[in-house]
Amino acid sequence: MNQNQKWQYDEFKQVGVDYADIEEVQAYDLRMRRMRNIKQECEHIRGLLKTTPSDSILEIGTGTGELALDFSDYCRRVIAIDVSPTMIKLAQEKATSQNKSNVEFQNAGFLTYEGTESFDAIITQLSLHHLPDYWKMVALRKIYNMLKDGGKLYLRDVVFPSQIKDYDGYFQGIISGIRKVAGEKVAEETVIHIRDEFSTLDWILEGLLKSVGFNIEQANYYDGFMANYLCLKTERNK
Ligand SMILES: C[S@@+](CC[C@H](N)C(=O)[O-])C[C@H]1O[C@@H](n2cnc3c(N)ncnc32)[C@H](O)[C@@H]1O
Repeated sequence: MNQNQKWQYDEFKQVGVDYADIEEVQAYDLRMRRMRNIKQECEHIRGLLKTTPSDSILEIGTGTGELALDFSDYCRRVIAIDVSPTMIKLAQEKATSQNKSNVEFQNAGFLTYEGTESFDAIITQLSLHHLPDYWKMVALRKIYNMLKDGGKLYLRDVVFPSQIKDYDGYFQGIISGIRKVAGEKVAEETVIHIRDEFSTLDWILEGLLKSVGFNIEQANYYDGFMANYLCLKTERNK
């Protein structure tokens, strides 16, 4: 993709929560390690992807690198990218302190990553919503092309159901639920997310995945606003 085109979306510009800010990044890292069982999450994803030790994996929007570092114990090679240099710096520091030699962190995004290697699997969690819908499609097409035939995409993100009619009640319910389990700061970030970021609707995301050629093997919607998709690339879809 030609980065010099004036119409090219600038994915390095922070939209919503500022993940280039060191305090935000450190707080995010602490909170995620406290709120999530990353080890269990990774085990579950490896089960879905049927990961093998010879696999080469790309993670997009790695954040502070927890998933990439965990996967590097089970795969031949992991490349993990993020548009936030602050996130990448912290992830790289962890890799160095853990003596990991098969994981590589790079400051790049869905649209700007320039690697030429093909991957057995690509994983992206809580990141695709940073792109507007048209650019989600461009990103998903690129992901499709970077996978080997038979390669898999695991995508998890905030996705809104299309059946809601009482939008105010729906969003207020999400925000107050998050306030109860995660506190005021995360509730405030949720407001920013809904207002400024680009989380889309279930049928749009499924349509985008299919339009670039993926078979959606699993689509799970849960907690009222979360979704994960396991998608397969097969040559016959090209
Ligand atoms: C909510 S965090 C999720 C981090 C990690 N995947 C996790 O599950 O904790 C979103 C991440 O996406 C990154 N991001 C935003 N836009 C991106 C883009 N266009 N390409 C790659 N990463 C992006 C942000 O810098 C941030 O690190």
